[in-house]
Amino acid sequence: MRGSKLIKKILYYESVDSTNDVARRSAGYGLLVIAERQESGRGRRGRVWISPYGGLWFSIVIRPLHNESHVPLALYNLMAGIAVVEAIRKLGLDAHLKWPNDVIVNNKKVCGILGESMRDRIIIGIGINVNVDLQEFPIDLRGSVTSLMDELGRRVDREDLLVNIIRGVEDICFRFDKDEILTKWKYFDITLNRRVKVFSNGKVIEGFAIDIADDGSLLVVADGGELMKFSSCDVSIR
Ligand code: BTN
Repeated sequence: MRGSKLIKKILYYESVDSTNDVARRSAGYGLLVIAERQESGRGRRGRVWISPYGGLWFSIVIRPLHNESHVPLALYNLMAGIAVVEAIRKLGLDAHLKWPNDVIVNNKKVCGILGESMRDRIIIGIGINVNVDLQEFPIDLRGSVTSLMDELGRRVDREDLLVNIIRGVEDICFRFDKDEILTKWKYFDITLNRRVKVFSNGKVIEGFAIDIADDGSLLVVADGGELMKFSSCDVSIR
């Protein structure tokens, strides 16, 4: 990470509870926390994130961007998603984004992103199934997840991938151009202009996903005709 404007210090672990939790417990910005495996990896909405050996499990701690207005956490997630998709595409795979920030290859999830804000810090946790053995995943998940190794038929250099992602995040964060972020995100997206089922606050809403708002939330026209805005929920594409 020499010369990186984003990363000044690296904490490397063989095994941790969760790299996001290590990041939360550490002070300061410019930190990269990386682990070979996580014992209590966390996904969005309190879910467990299975993190066996062979994956790329890391968190970066950055200083919130101070632009003309407050930058919502969802936009950091979108920026990270773009950086991951671009890095995976460089490997030759046709990666896409599913709102809010799942990275999908061949209709299966290969990466998840967990952005968290903490007082004056933003923590972006990224988990990628790089060279993991999919047998390590519970049976009910096996049909919906994949690994880069499985998709490419070869092992992937995790260090190269990590460096490409960090450079991508750095690039897009420091340039911070909201229009560019939304345009890029929509270019890689597979959620928009599709019928969707949204799971929000215990309710299921069916409708048509029409756009991503400036703050990163999803705009859906529900079947009853109402325009609805979602900032944090699960979405399935029909
Ligand atoms: C999701 O799709 O639900 C988000 C998954 C985020 C997983 C990563 S792995 C590194 C970091 N540490 C965690 O405990 N979670 C994130």
